[in-house]
Amino acid sequence: MTNSEHLHQNIFYSIIDGILLISPSLTIQKSNLTVEDMFHRSSDSFLNRGLEELFPRQSHVLDISRKVLVTGACYHDVEAEGVRNTPSSRFPVNLTLSPFLESDDSIQGVLILVKNMSLIRELEERERPADHLKNLGAVTMGMAHEIRNPLGGIRGSAQLLRQEIKNKSHQEYLDVVVSEVDRIDRMVKRIMDLTRPSDLRMESTNIHKVLEEILVLEKDTLTRKNGRFEQIYDPSLPPIEADEDQLKQVFLNLIKNAIEASRKGSKVQIVTRVSSGFSVKAASSPVPQQNIVVEIIDSGEGMTEETQKMLFTPFHTTKKKGSGLGLAISLKIVKDHNGKIKITSEKGLGTTVQVFLPTRQR
Ligand SMILES: Nc1ncnc2c1ncn2[C@@H]1O[C@H](COP(=O)(O)OP(=O)(O)OP(=O)(O)O)[C@@H](O)[C@H]1O
Ligand SMILES: [Mg+2]
Repeated sequence: MTNSEHLHQNIFYSIIDGILLISPSLTIQKSNLTVEDMFHRSSDSFLNRGLEELFPRQSHVLDISRKVLVTGACYHDVEAEGVRNTPSSRFPVNLTLSPFLESDDSIQGVLILVKNMSLIRELEERERPADHLKNLGAVTMGMAHEIRNPLGGIRGSAQLLRQEIKNKSHQEYLDVVVSEVDRIDRMVKRIMDLTRPSDLRMESTNIHKVLEEILVLEKDTLTRKNGRFEQIYDPSLPPIEADEDQLKQVFLNLIKNAIEASRKGSKVQIVTRVSSGFSVKAASSPVPQQNIVVEIIDSGEGMTEETQKMLFTPFHTTKKKGSGLGLAISLKIVKDHNGKIKITSEKGLGTTVQVFLPTRQR
């Protein structure tokens, strides 16, 4: 094999997505390891067989392949279903089909790039409870304003009364009034955050700067538990287009949750990297984009299955003093940035929260 053939073969096998080379008679000629992984079968079982072996009863895949052979055009974002035999299951895939050209530019076959979409679909499923928010928006905003106005009056009166009253224990009652009014006010503000139409001020943002500012704020709380942060940053991470203040809210909520879940003496890891697994596509954009991932990993108490099912649902909390709004607000902001949040957790072992953010908004 020549050097250049070696190089081509290496590229073929190193690509993260599945890749198939299809002959003009639509049989599978070559595949990389990802295809075997994705379909849970060895290449012996499908090489030299028809394309329907991997995509049975999906005539559109065959039709588009024929079109590529005849016209030489590329087709992006072709939706299809991969089929596994053992155990029998189907999974969503996204295909890119392009002509495979010889050096004289004649079409020798079709190259199919196969992207497994299971993870993205799963993320979308998990986010569904937050959709209820859309309908709530207008009503809640109106209510929130109406609640905050009288609160100001109550707080002011209680403070005046406190100055007049000499009895210490009666003063304490009024302190409770003021601090509880403040609690309602904070809560209402957060509900407003949750239902406010998105109004982002996008600018080039250094995610490490955002994270560091929050870690400085939260360090004491973790130190009080004898814990510490461990930052594992990828220095080559590109800046992202984002609303810095809003992102601060996201990571503040997530890091607070990680600290609250942590046991004495444990660490909370903050990891950043470029996402290689998949890319999130903005609804309006035809091209998949590069993403960064920020992971917040705690080895704290973890969550039960029930809590995991209820994640992102406003007001769902397992904490005495929680309002259950942190994750719902974070998800709203991340979605406004065309990003995704994925949470995996095991009771007693800990939780990993992954925030995927596109580097550019189109
Ligand atoms: N890192 C984590 N480890 C364990 N459980 C978590 C973690 N993050 C979230 N949870 C669970 O998800 C629930 C909802 O979290 P969320 O941040 O939305 O609300 P909260 O923390 O309870 O209250 P708030 O953030 O509004 O003060 C929590 O009550 C907790 O049960
Ligand atoms: Mg929280």
